[in-house]
Amino acid sequence: MLDKIKDLLEEVKGLTAETAEEAEQLRIKYLSKKGIIPSLFNEFKSVPNDQKKAVGQAINELKNTAQESINNLKEQFEQSNLTSGASDLTLPGSQMPIGSRHPLSIVRKQIVDIFDRIGFTVAEGPEIEDDWHVFEALNFPPEHPARDMQDTFFINQDPDILLRTHTSSVQIRTMENQQPPIRAIFPGRVFRNEAISARAHCIFHQVEGLYIDEDVSFADLRQTLLYFAKEMFGKETRIRLRPSYFPFTEPSAEMDISCTLCGGEGCNICKYTGWVEILGCGMVDPAVLSNCNIDPEKYTGFAFGMGIERIAMLKYQINDIRLFFENDVRFLEQFKAES
Ligand code: PHE
Repeated sequence: MLDKIKDLLEEVKGLTAETAEEAEQLRIKYLSKKGIIPSLFNEFKSVPNDQKKAVGQAINELKNTAQESINNLKEQFEQSNLTSGASDLTLPGSQMPIGSRHPLSIVRKQIVDIFDRIGFTVAEGPEIEDDWHVFEALNFPPEHPARDMQDTFFINQDPDILLRTHTSSVQIRTMENQQPPIRAIFPGRVFRNEAISARAHCIFHQVEGLYIDEDVSFADLRQTLLYFAKEMFGKETRIRLRPSYFPFTEPSAEMDISCTLCGGEGCNICKYTGWVEILGCGMVDPAVLSNCNIDPEKYTGFAFGMGIERIAMLKYQINDIRLFFENDVRFLEQFKAES
């Protein structure tokens, strides 16, 4: 039996094949269940005990050698397949997946474009701010709750350095650097120390706007915001201004739009009132103008501020603000057509 194995060993060392199929045939001949080598293991049972060790070793060597040379043959064919495939210029190219813009970027751009058409420029400012630009210059009294650690992320105290809680800080920076007429909007990220839920997040985005000139009136404010609401939510949109309070505007108001879902009939988006709140606004308080060295006897102006998430949620009927920050592609992919 040992001789037979030796012959086979020589045989498998010299195996050749012209094609992948031939190599496969060789595998079947020598190594498959009913092939030559496995059948040697059957014969092995009848080998006398004193020869078992030597025969066993020889069969194993034969099996390994056969496996190795057949694998080598096969590999050779796989490689030549690859090279011929790579040079086949008629094969279709592999597709690159197309990404989509984030819904907040889409909505921010829409807002910026709408105001751009009526002459508003865009300005940005730092996210890390001092107390003066976020609170003091905006007329927040020292004991105002927004100045509480509970609402504001402080980086340093005395002097107070903090993450801005609204982009009104950029209004101050703009007025400090420029005399009227000023007509600008301020998109940016803001931070508030709030528990994260479906309706609130500690990071969100705002666009604020400012218009300062001689004889700017509340009627100008209303008309500008009506134009914005119709451009953003459709021509049939109506607005309503309700009295409100902000330290930096007087008078102040909150603006509602007629519900985008039911058009004012009443549904669970508008809690059956027909109206949804979208922004805060008002006439810039003369004290704020003075803080920025703008003469309040000569100039008046209006300001407004809105959350981009809120506008996007209404526009696309998104019911959980956390979706904007999770970066789940199944959510983001749905905005492909918009970008
Ligand atoms: N800064 C206000 C806020 O963050 C919004 C606002 C801006 C209100 C301008 C009135 C005028 O809530």
